[in-house]
Amino acid sequence: MTASLLKEFVQRYGQEPLLVAAPGRINFIGEHTDYNKGFVLPAAVDKRIYAAMAKNGTGTVNVFARQFSESISFDVNETQPRSGWINYLLGVTYYVQQTGTAIEGIDVLIDGDVPVGAGMSSSAALCSAYGFALNELFKLDYSRMELAVIGQKTEHNFAGVKCGIMDQFASLLGKAGHAIKLDCRSLEYEYIPFNFPEYKIVLVNTMVSHSLAGTEYNLRRQQCEEGVELLKKYYPEIKSLRDVSYEQLTRHWKEFNATVYDRCTYIVNENQRLLAACDALRHNDLPGFGEMMYASHKGLSKRYEVSCKELDFLVEKTKLINGVVGARMMGGGFGGCTINIVQENGIENFTEQIQQAYQQQFAKTPEVYVMQLEEGARIISQ
Ligand code: GLA
Repeated sequence: MTASLLKEFVQRYGQEPLLVAAPGRINFIGEHTDYNKGFVLPAAVDKRIYAAMAKNGTGTVNVFARQFSESISFDVNETQPRSGWINYLLGVTYYVQQTGTAIEGIDVLIDGDVPVGAGMSSSAALCSAYGFALNELFKLDYSRMELAVIGQKTEHNFAGVKCGIMDQFASLLGKAGHAIKLDCRSLEYEYIPFNFPEYKIVLVNTMVSHSLAGTEYNLRRQQCEEGVELLKKYYPEIKSLRDVSYEQLTRHWKEFNATVYDRCTYIVNENQRLLAACDALRHNDLPGFGEMMYASHKGLSKRYEVSCKELDFLVEKTKLINGVVGARMMGGGFGGCTINIVQENGIENFTEQIQQAYQQQFAKTPEVYVMQLEEGARIISQ
C-alpha cells in the first residue's frame, strides 16, 4: 500500500510527501473505564491509517481520502465542524494551533486498512496519523501524549463523541509485542509483554457498524457521572467511579436509579477485573486472563448494556470451540468486533466454526483478523 500511496501522491500533487502510519488498536480488557478515570489495557495492531503529506505554500489543506475516493479542502484557520470524516482533520488542524503555533497549507493523501466502524478506532488512528505528520512537517514539538489529547479533543468537539483517551493513546504509544496498562487519571502507563507464542489474538467482526455508539456512548458517560454525584454527598473525596469501592456502591443501592446502579456496578467491577487480568498476564496465567475477559463481556452485556445480539452470539459460541481461552466484545459496543484469544493450531477450526454458525444465524459472514501487536505512530518515509 505504501508504494502505491507515494506514487499517487506524486501524480496528484507533484511532489514527494512525508509518509506516516498510525495503527488501530485492540483492547484486552477495561472497557468504558477510560472516561471514568480508571484503567485500560489496549495495544496497537498491524492495521493502520497512512497519511502522506507535504506543504503546498498556500493557506489551504487539500485532502484526498483514497478509501472513500473523496476530495475535500478547507482553510487552515477554519474553526467549525462540518460533517463526516473531514472533522477529524479539521479538529486536529484547529487544536495543534491552539498553543500559538500557526501552520500553513498542505496536501494530504489518506488511506488505510483499519476497518471503519469495527471498533478498532479508525478515527483515532486517522487523528494520530495526521497529527503526527503535522508535528513532523512543522516541527511543532508536541509529545505523543499531547498529540493523543489533541485527538481526543477533536473527537469530543468536532465529532461529538465524549470519548476517553484510550484509542488515541494506544495508536500513538503502542509497543510491539506488548499490551499497555494505562492509568487514565495519572496517564502513567506500563508495557506488559503479551508473550504466548502458541496463542493468537483474533478479532471477529460482526459486520454491524456501531452507528448507535455516538448517542448511547455519551449517555453512558452521563449515567456514570450521575452515580458519582450521588456518592459524592457521602464521600466528598470521590471524583470519578475510579475512586468508588464495591462496598461504598452497594451500601447506597437503594438511593440509586436502577439503571445508573447497574452502570456503576459494571465500571467498579471492570476496574477490579482489569487489575486481576494484569496480574494474570504477569504470571503467564492465560486461563485466568481469559476468565476475566468472559466476565467483562457479561458485565458489558447485562449491566452496561452496550452489547448486541450479534456480539453476544459470537462470544457465547466460543465457549463451544476448542482452544479459545477468552472472548469478549471490544470497544464502544453496539457492533464492531469481538476479541478472542485462540490457540494457534486451532485458528482454522475456530474460523470455520464461528463463520458457519454466524452465517446460519445472521445470514452474513463475519470477517476474522489475526492480529499482531505493533509500534505506535511512526514515520515510514520522508
Ligand atoms: C471507544 C472510545 C474509548 C473507550 C471505548 C470503550 O473506543 O473512543 O475512549 O471509551 O470506546 O472502552
